[in-house]
Amino acid sequence: MNETGNWREQFVAFDEDGLVRLTRAAERVARTLGAGTSGPRSARSPGELHDLVGALEICPFEGVALDEVVAELGEVVWANGVVPSDPACVAHLHPPTLLPAVVSELAIAATNQSMDSWDQAPVATEVELRLMAWLAELVGFPTGASGVMTSGGTASNGLALTLARSWAAKQLGVDVLQSGLPAEATRWRILCSDQAHFSIQRAAAQLGLGRDAVVSVATDASGALDVAALDVAMGELERQELTTIAIVATAGTTDLGAIDPLATVAERARRVGAWFHVDAAVAGAFLLSPRLAPRLTGAELADSVTIDFHKLWWQPFNASALVVSDVERFDLLRVRSNYLDRGDELEGVVNLVGRSLDTSRRFDAAKVVASLRTLGRRTFAEMLEYLVDLATYAGERVARNPRLELVATPSAVTCVFYARDASDDEVREVQLRLLARGEAVLGRTVIEHRAALKFTLMNPLMTSSDVERLIELVTNELDTLSAERP
Ligand SMILES: Cc1ncc(COP(=O)(O)O)c(C=O)c1O
Repeated sequence: MNETGNWREQFVAFDEDGLVRLTRAAERVARTLGAGTSGPRSARSPGELHDLVGALEICPFEGVALDEVVAELGEVVWANGVVPSDPACVAHLHPPTLLPAVVSELAIAATNQSMDSWDQAPVATEVELRLMAWLAELVGFPTGASGVMTSGGTASNGLALTLARSWAAKQLGVDVLQSGLPAEATRWRILCSDQAHFSIQRAAAQLGLGRDAVVSVATDASGALDVAALDVAMGELERQELTTIAIVATAGTTDLGAIDPLATVAERARRVGAWFHVDAAVAGAFLLSPRLAPRLTGAELADSVTIDFHKLWWQPFNASALVVSDVERFDLLRVRSNYLDRGDELEGVVNLVGRSLDTSRRFDAAKVVASLRTLGRRTFAEMLEYLVDLATYAGERVARNPRLELVATPSAVTCVFYARDASDDEVREVQLRLLARGEAVLGRTVIEHRAALKFTLMNPLMTSSDVERLIELVTNELDTLSAERP
């Protein structure tokens, strides 16, 4: 046996030598990040990137010095990434990240707490529980409400609908985790707007209900769920003797940022005994702002709420949460195991695996807490309000531009618009050309069967001149395309 420990230096250590190695390597990595990148992405083509990465020998027989690997990754990888902090990187809900969160990532990785069981994460469990209790209180849930961190909005929505499905089965006296779906499940339906995130459909598919179980309700011009259409849909389901097991409202739709009328939808859900889930992945952060929070009135009536910290809380991926109003509901999910969630622990121990669809799980709560404490609620609120105002400004500029047509007055941080007198193909061409040249990473979507472009304003360091420059880039490209027409 080789006990010489030749590999000792490859591990993180917290003695003096270990700390020197760690900080030196961290500094080297940090220095590679600013080098070589200008603009929202490099102008390298998919083929060039493929070849560049293809030339990396993933696992040489003899390892390479860390300094060399760091430099290589800097040149090949980091210099060719997208740059969410660039003002022309506005395609998606993809934020620049906060310093306290990024340095906490180092601690999260170096200490590697695992959130599945208390014995792998004793104080980390307390931190996550404290953050979840705070978040539940922010939503307006009753005392004792709590939640769990997940890898993203898709996972949080999936977890919510998993609970809703188990809850519906429980009403029939069926333990769905034990015996599978009851025969009645073919008649179960989930209602949401036609602008709800596709993860709702995906969850229905994974839960064995099928995507056909999701009934889409029409939205109004702003992109928010139309209550009259909801009432018609519910009436129709009742006539067909179908059971609404869940109603999902969205607070901040992906494209238009619209917020459904939460309190009204809550009332409809209560009337039919359905689980009420609010997907506040996007606009959940509004709860931090006294000016914006009233837009989420009604979220406190939900059974569960999704909030993505890796969107408008400027956290690195992964960081999302599902909070539930009644923490006992997590019991609907529990699968005990001999080695983890044994049920015979020390007094006061919580094993978070009992709330999660994951087993091993990162201590993402640490970076969120570090960010909240460092910036404080006032700065979060000011940054959010600034971005909402910036999106409003973008909407006004677009509305005044003769080449463009605003789809809807911005509701949150997105500004979505059509190009006048341009075909869908030309709109696609504008987005793809700017992306290929590395000049702008724009969003492109379809609203009312027509191609539209989207600015998603996630960066509080962006200015009104950045917005004007983006509009200019788009209109110049449209002009070029018009000139190219035969
Ligand atoms: C409204 C909404 N819900 C859920 C999600 C999914 O979030 P994630 O990408 O974190 O899985 C998104 C993503 O954009 C979203 O816009």
